[in-house]
Amino acid sequence: MSNKRVLKLREAMQNKSVKALFVTSSINRRYLTGFTGSSGYVLITMDAAYLLTDFRYMTQAPQQAQGFTVVEHGQRVTDTIKELLSSSNITELAFEQEDVSFSAYTTFAQQLKPVELLPVAGLVEQLRMFKDEEELKVMQRAADLADETFQHILGFVKKGMTEREVDLEMEFFMRRKGATSSSFDTIVASGERSSMPHGVASERVIQGNELITFDFGALLDGYCSDLTRTIALGQPDPKLKEIYDIVLEAQLHTLEHIKPGMTGREADALARDIITKYGYGEHFGHSTGHGLGMEVHEMPRLSKLSDDVLKPGMVVTVEPGIYLPGLGGVRIEDDIVITDTGIAILTHSSKDFTVLPV
Ligand code: GLY
Ligand code: MN
Ligand code: MN
Repeated sequence: MSNKRVLKLREAMQNKSVKALFVTSSINRRYLTGFTGSSGYVLITMDAAYLLTDFRYMTQAPQQAQGFTVVEHGQRVTDTIKELLSSSNITELAFEQEDVSFSAYTTFAQQLKPVELLPVAGLVEQLRMFKDEEELKVMQRAADLADETFQHILGFVKKGMTEREVDLEMEFFMRRKGATSSSFDTIVASGERSSMPHGVASERVIQGNELITFDFGALLDGYCSDLTRTIALGQPDPKLKEIYDIVLEAQLHTLEHIKPGMTGREADALARDIITKYGYGEHFGHSTGHGLGMEVHEMPRLSKLSDDVLKPGMVVTVEPGIYLPGLGGVRIEDDIVITDTGIAILTHSSKDFTVLPV
């Protein structure tokens, strides 16, 4: 049976004159094969597609890996690869240079001789940038779950709780609704901690009259969502409301103007130019967004240095922020799909300045 992703991968391999590819990344393995087990390798040639795994998965793997020949590998996966390649004229095996440690490379290179290892980057990741309809449906469900979690937490968070208690409630909520886990360590950053762009939930006790930034997502059926909202508990310093309005303006402007054909640099500038115009450019020290999918950060990048071109089917975040050390910070983040004509927004939580009573 043919597997569309394998067919596309072969095209990409041909463009790079790669005759055989050894896939070691677990995410790429799941993407290509559908196999969800924790251990395995993929070997792709122009006329064969193998999933190599071990004894534990010999029932599960053939059920999940459509279009793959499942092979139980021996103690050393390299021996099995050599055997599989022995009947072909393949003398060079491409490997994923961004995934293989130097130590693993040294071992593989030694054991595979006389087959030579050839480093390649991003062959599968380039395919993963473009989400098909099935993937978009899963990503919409992951985004819906993030929205639902935010709604739930608005009714849960109270002065006197620790950030960690709120984080745990979010985790339980998402897991109860079917998530495998949160898609990264949940950020609940309150008060002056909200000026830390990656203020993972701590033991800090939430006070009144301050901001709280929630940045979190659900990992659902293999795909991530990534949502940020900043709210007020009571009346924070007026300066924080001022930066909230600027971040919101930058975020909405970016959503209004981002479109296919734009580079990551141009998309980044949509948000950055507004924040800079108000004099807060120095306080927006991260990029405007990033690709999202099976991993929370993937290609393309929406940053000052990115030449990536936005194309239909890509899912990216739009997440400008302003951070004032010692006072607080604001970030607002949505997940969007680039379409033929513009964008579709996956996350829908309100962005109106929300003030919860203390
Ligand atoms: N906290 C991860 C992100 O929003 O990129
Ligand atoms: Mn985020
Ligand atoms: Mn993000």
